[in-house]
Amino acid sequence: MNMKDTHMTKKELEETAEKYLNETFKRFDFIAEKGEGMYVIDEEGNKYLDFMGGIAVNATGNCNERVVQAIKDQAKMMIHSSNYCYTIPQIMLAKLICENIGMDKIFFQNSGAEANEAMIKLARKYGTDNFGPDRYKIVTALNSFHGRTYATLTATGQPDSACQKGYAPLLPGFSYAEYNNLESFKNACDENTIAIMIEPVQGEGGVYPATEEFIKGLREFCDEKNMLLLFDEVQTGWGRTGDLMGYITYGVKPDAVSMAKAMGGGMPIGAMCTTKELAKTFGPGAHGTTFGGNPVCCAAAYAQITEMIEKNLPEKAREMGLYLMKKLENLPGVKEVRGKGLLVGVEFNEDIAFKLKYLSAEKHLLITAVRDNIIRLAPPLLVSREECDKAVEILKNAAEELL
Ligand SMILES: Cc1ncc(COP(=O)(O)O)c(C=O)c1O
Repeated sequence: MNMKDTHMTKKELEETAEKYLNETFKRFDFIAEKGEGMYVIDEEGNKYLDFMGGIAVNATGNCNERVVQAIKDQAKMMIHSSNYCYTIPQIMLAKLICENIGMDKIFFQNSGAEANEAMIKLARKYGTDNFGPDRYKIVTALNSFHGRTYATLTATGQPDSACQKGYAPLLPGFSYAEYNNLESFKNACDENTIAIMIEPVQGEGGVYPATEEFIKGLREFCDEKNMLLLFDEVQTGWGRTGDLMGYITYGVKPDAVSMAKAMGGGMPIGAMCTTKELAKTFGPGAHGTTFGGNPVCCAAAYAQITEMIEKNLPEKAREMGLYLMKKLENLPGVKEVRGKGLLVGVEFNEDIAFKLKYLSAEKHLLITAVRDNIIRLAPPLLVSREECDKAVEILKNAAEELL
């Protein structure tokens, strides 16, 4: 659908949005009409350099040709059939994913929160089935983000934040420990803890990568205590941090991992992958979904992941991430630049992140802000050096105006 189809002006469309949309986002002042590789194009044809990537989604670029073709082809054949039927895209995608990331089984969902919800349910059921009804507790990290359903909101280690305020009582059985602090996690677990759930890089929390020592320590501790190690790779998964999955970089295998965002090339799909043993926890009726594993979404994800592997995009993310981070260190007012691959955070000495986000958009660069003083960059993984230079230049001009 484009502007012409609506017979409305930009102002009329915005008024219509205000009238009918229940808003939870403060939007940019343009209408995103088209996507093309590294660019988002507005209703007047202005091009915005995309260092937001649809919030770490558009890893192979906006409207990647292979993904678009796969969606068109699949939509003509079968849009939805229900999970009572086998479908070709779902089976082929399951094989592609499991074989490429070293996991045994996959359960498809529609989003990151749903994938985490499935992982939490699986861990609890595994605990109570195998060790008794009290073994259901899960420890997550302070400052983490796992989603906005009740279980994932509770797993999110941000007590008193806007995302948790007003929703009490949250789900029982969750407690939090300090990220990158193994002792803190050990202290937070007791004999009824069944799992530790962690992001390899805390994305929404401010772009904090885990140390190798911490992740390896968690694996050893979970093995020792018969606990599950669950990775939330909704944001880090699928090339973003320099490998197909973040845990590959750390050389550690989780018992279960969730994924979404970059997986579907922009289509809403999420999933949870597990070991063979753990997968046995879910049998018929124990969990389910109407849309999860939808043929069009699976066909898009198959195209997205194939493109990523064939074009070696994770390796490109690793290289370009280092280049970008080095450049960003020269921005005015910077306290720290950190990240992994092309999941990059810039922390400023002053609280300019949200103003910088909107000012950069005015200057035709899209970024996100995750804290008052932290911006996040997550461009498509095919970004070039020239595009990184251009983005840093825009950020520099904008930051100078604000400081
Ligand atoms: C690490 C992590 N987990 C879960 C989610 C929730 O994903 P979704 O918005 O697809 O439900 C997000 C979203 O930002 C995320 O970054």
